Amino acid sequence: MANGVTTDKVNLPAGESLKPVQCIGVPREVFPGEKRVATVPEVVEKLIKLGFTVAVESGAGDLANFSDEVYRAAGAQVIEGAAKLWAASDIVFKVRGPTTDEVALMHEGQALVSFIWPAQNPELMRQLADRKVTVLAIDSLPRTLSRAQKMDALTSMAGVSGYRAVIEAANAFGRFFNGQITAAGKVPPAKVFIAGAGVAGLAAIGTAASLGAIVRANDTRAEVADQVTSLGGEFVKVDYEEEGGGGGGYAKVMSEGFQQAQRAMYASQAKEVDIIITTALIPGKPAPKLITAEMVKSMKPGSVIVDMAGEQGGNCELTEPGQAVVRHGVTIVGYTDLASRLSKQSSTLYATNLFRLSEELCKTKDGIINVNMEDDAIRGLTVIKEGNITWPTPAPKLPAAPPAAAKPAAAAPAAKKAHGHGAPSEPMAGNKLAIMFGVAALLFWFVGANAPAAFLAHFTVFVLACFVGYMVVWNVKPALHTPLMSVTNAISSIIAIGALVQIAPPLVGASVDRPDDWIRWLAAAGIVLTAINMFGGFAVTQRMLAMFRK
Ligand code: NAI
Repeated sequence: MANGVTTDKVNLPAGESLKPVQCIGVPREVFPGEKRVATVPEVVEKLIKLGFTVAVESGAGDLANFSDEVYRAAGAQVIEGAAKLWAASDIVFKVRGPTTDEVALMHEGQALVSFIWPAQNPELMRQLADRKVTVLAIDSLPRTLSRAQKMDALTSMAGVSGYRAVIEAANAFGRFFNGQITAAGKVPPAKVFIAGAGVAGLAAIGTAASLGAIVRANDTRAEVADQVTSLGGEFVKVDYEEEGGGGGGYAKVMSEGFQQAQRAMYASQAKEVDIIITTALIPGKPAPKLITAEMVKSMKPGSVIVDMAGEQGGNCELTEPGQAVVRHGVTIVGYTDLASRLSKQSSTLYATNLFRLSEELCKTKDGIINVNMEDDAIRGLTVIKEGNITWPTPAPKLPAAPPAAAKPAAAAPAAKKAHGHGAPSEPMAGNKLAIMFGVAALLFWFVGANAPAAFLAHFTVFVLACFVGYMVVWNVKPALHTPLMSVTNAISSIIAIGALVQIAPPLVGASVDRPDDWIRWLAAAGIVLTAINMFGGFAVTQRMLAMFRK
């Protein structure tokens, strides 16, 4: 620890030395209106178990309903004043990027974990590099790495914000969300349109649907349509064929033709719906203007727009970032602090994301971090290492593209397979395919010519079953393999019944011969293998059901 408050050295017998553990410091957020805090008492205990000591600035958790006493009870040291806190910390956890005053409090060798947005804040990056510190920008985490999902604070904050956007809409809207039949008359359900079905958009769809509204959504990435439907929304397509995926789960800027068709669809939705929540974003680009002033004018009086993209200029032409305004009788909410408005929840999720990151940084659980630049996730979010700017992360080296296939017809099936499983596969040459088919045909002829008729019938069923199974499983998206595994339980039980019939002794008086020993052994092996599948399937089903239990 550099200027640390606690080291394990303190109580050691003379002559013995131990590496000092590092202190994680959590200052009070100074950004106006920011209510979140970077760690919560429940996570403090976990950080201490990782070997760290934890210091929290007095009052840091007040606005998220975590008092100094609760932090103390969890094992944290509460320090009065930012200067002392920053000086005492080896690693600082923050929510918002540091201000110039806070940067001035940093010391050489210190590490900072926080939202930074390096592309938008070059001056802050320069100041931090001058202090010779290490900076892990939580916003730069490679989101496509599945291993990194547990640390993905952008996703957890966007989820909270999408939920809060609906609550803000409900607050500004003068009616119920759900349809009701009351003694005083029938109330129609509110109609909600969500523009952009990314993380925030999907959270908003789920929340609005659970409140009973009719929810529609649109996104340029057609692949999200299933997710919209599964959350209780209806996906509204733009009448124009163009793929909107720009790689890594993000969108691309669409053609002028698409944008025109999209504007026409949005204009007709604006006339019909009561609430619009916009979340459309392409990272690094200004927010697409999807809701024009004309569309706002065409909405029913009392309608509400919640524009989540206020910080990037807004998806609606009339949004005033950070404010709620009324234009043409429509309330337009442009708050840029939606996550902070649910500070207890967002602080808890953020703290958990940072704890998961701490686990990755301190695999040895000895209270000392190791910023391992060989680790993809850690490399991605390390934007400054010991004063050297390491952002942006170099693009991963992709394997050299295979040479163009001579015959496009032969390349097509291989390309489809690569799409389904994300694994690059070599296009199969036409002659190789022909040889394979030739060998298979010869084998079939040989079996057909020599095997007994009874075996042939079973063999035909077996080959057809393999073919159908292959086609079914291979055409299921990888994301659905887990539910598929639970469904295959039914198939496994058919196999088990078949195998049991082979093993069981024939009924007394039955004219059927007892099968050969080797068939019975084969059946026993079949039961063992299929049992693995069945128990695995039940375990997966249990885990899936647990996700939906309240
Ligand atoms: P995301 O990248 O997961 O989702 C954005 C979605 O917009 C993507 O699905 C993308 O395909 C879609 N999109 C892009 N261009 C489009 C277009 N022209 N038409 C329709 N859809 C389009 O982003 P995330 O995390 O869901 O955030 C959404 C927005 O919410 C961002 O602007 C983000 O800054 C903002 N946000 C605002 C907060 C606040 O307090 N106001 C808090 C958290 C996020």
